[in-house]
Parts: sequence; structure tokens; C-alpha cells
Amino acid sequence: MQGLARPSDRRPPLPRPLTPFVGRERELADLRRLLADPDCRLLTLVGPGGFGKTRLALQAAAQVAGSEHEPCFVDLPAVRAPGRLAQAIADALGLPLAGAAPPSAQLISHLREKRCLLVLDNFEHLLDLDAAPAEAIAFLGDLLEAAPGVKALVTSREALNLLGEWRYPVGGLSFPPAGPAPAPVETYGAVQLFVQAARRVSPDFSPADEADGIARLCRMVEGMPLARSWPPPGPGRSPAPPSRTRSPAAPNCCTPTCATCPSIIAAYRPSSARPGNG
Ligand SMILES: Nc1ncnc2c1ncn2[C@@H]1O[C@H](COP(=O)(O)OP(=O)(O)OP(=O)(O)O)[C@@H](O)[C@H]1O
Ligand SMILES: [Mg+2]
Repeated sequence: MQGLARPSDRRPPLPRPLTPFVGRERELADLRRLLADPDCRLLTLVGPGGFGKTRLALQAAAQVAGSEHEPCFVDLPAVRAPGRLAQAIADALGLPLAGAAPPSAQLISHLREKRCLLVLDNFEHLLDLDAAPAEAIAFLGDLLEAAPGVKALVTSREALNLLGEWRYPVGGLSFPPAGPAPAPVETYGAVQLFVQAARRVSPDFSPADEADGIARLCRMVEGMPLARSWPPPGPGRSPAPPSRTRSPAAPNCCTPTCATCPSIIAAYRPSSARPGNG
């Protein structure tokens, strides 16, 4: 693999989320090892929506930035047809395609002798499109076969089922178990994220006052990131805005003393289950 060059220096940097990354130490160590493994060329982070696949992929990619496989982020929901995947990758790499040859052929020819890590985010979007979803998967397979220095880190709600794919399941953040917790609640990732979000709207929010309720809430959603900001709890405050339905089912109870959790529960409850929505 020696002698393979990086594709270009014109690609944009990885997106930088506005909020700090929390937890996932074990997953990041696993991904660092997998991405360093020359046999692992296609690694798919698979898990339900909202569980943090994109965040984890970005963090894992940032870990390899500056290495021989410089990461390049490709935002797939912006791609309107499976046949546009090659153009989207070329755009993300800052690679102008020109000439009569199809974009897929031009891209493969450009990357044949190059090294990089393509971060293909939300691949399930391409699988959901009506027109020939297999086309996108087949193109990715062709690209990886033709370009031995290219790796792909994919996020998707479904596996790609491509020969050579390594799958890494993404579940929730760590959360306190039921019963006596073996560690303080604030050491669990799901709790840290909850507290971080609560403090963005209530800077003096104290998790100590609500530790049991927060732990229970994080358990109920199995560590799903509760990352959005809510209006501070309190009488007369308007409820949180509607949220998309997520998996697992949103919690429907909390400790009676918990002042913060009701607005969070409301935010994660499917809109059809909310009062006033039928
Ligand atoms: N480890 C984390 N640290 C901080 N924020 C996180 C973390 N994991 C997830 N989040 C936040 O939780 C929200 C959902 O995460 P993300 O978008 O990565 O989920 P996803 O699994 O990619 O969802 P989808 O399948 O809908 O694309 C985002 O606001 C993200 O910033
Ligand atoms: Mg995502």
C-alpha cells in the first residue's frame, strides 16, 4: 500500500457538532482498532435512529484525522438518487469531475491509487429510495475493490449486506442499572448527556436533586441520547416542542418528585400520544 497518495487537500474538514461529545470510551477504542485493521475496509455502524451513530462515526473519524487514511465526510441524506453517490463522494473530496465518462468511473479511476477514509453518513437513506437501492451498494463494492487504499465507515439503520462488510452495533450510551448503582450516576454517559442538555437551558440545574429520576429515565430509553435542550421545568412553562417518534418507546412515567423529567418525557412521546393530539 506504500506510495498511495491522499486524494486532495481541497476537501472540507469534518463537521464539528455544536455540543461536546460524551462517553463511548469502549466504542471509540473498538473503532480505533477496527479502522487500523487493514482487513477491515467497510465498517458499518448499525443501530436505530437517534442512538448516536453519526456522532460516534464523526468522533471515530476525528481520531484517525492526520493519519494515512484522512477522513472525508459524505452527507447522504442530501443525495437524491443512488446513482448520485459517486458525484456526492467526489464533491465531498473536492474533486471536480469532467468529461464524458460516467462519474462512477471517473471517481474510481481517481481513487484507485489513493488512500482515505470515506465516512458515508445515513446510508439507509439510499436504501429507502425507490430507484434501485442495490445500485449504491454495488457501486460502493466496486469502488472498494478497485481502490485498495480506500476504507469506508458507514452509518446506517440497516446493514448493507455487502461481502466484506464489518458490522458494529450501536446501542445507547451507558446508563445506571436498576438497584444500587456500582458507580455514581454522573459517571454514565446517558446521564452526563442529560445533565449537559439540562444545563444549557438551566445553568444552575443540579443533578444531585434528581439523580434517581434521571437514572430511571435513562434506563427507560436504554441510554438513547437525550441531547436536545428543553425549556426549564417549572409551573406555567410551555411543553417541549414535538419530537419525531424514536425507538425504544418513549417513557411514560417518572418519579413523582422529578421536576425536570416531565418536559423531557413529553418531548420524546409520540405526538399522537400527547394530550390535545387526539
Ligand atoms: N456521544 C454523544 N455525545 C454527545 N451528543 C451525542 C452523542 N451521541 C449522540 N448525541 C446527540 O444525540 C443526537 C442523536 O445522535 P445522532 O444524530 O448521531 O443519531 P443517529 O443514530 O445518527 O440518528 P439517525 O439514525 O437519525 O441519523 C444528536 O443531537 C447528537 O449530537
Ligand atoms: Mg445519523
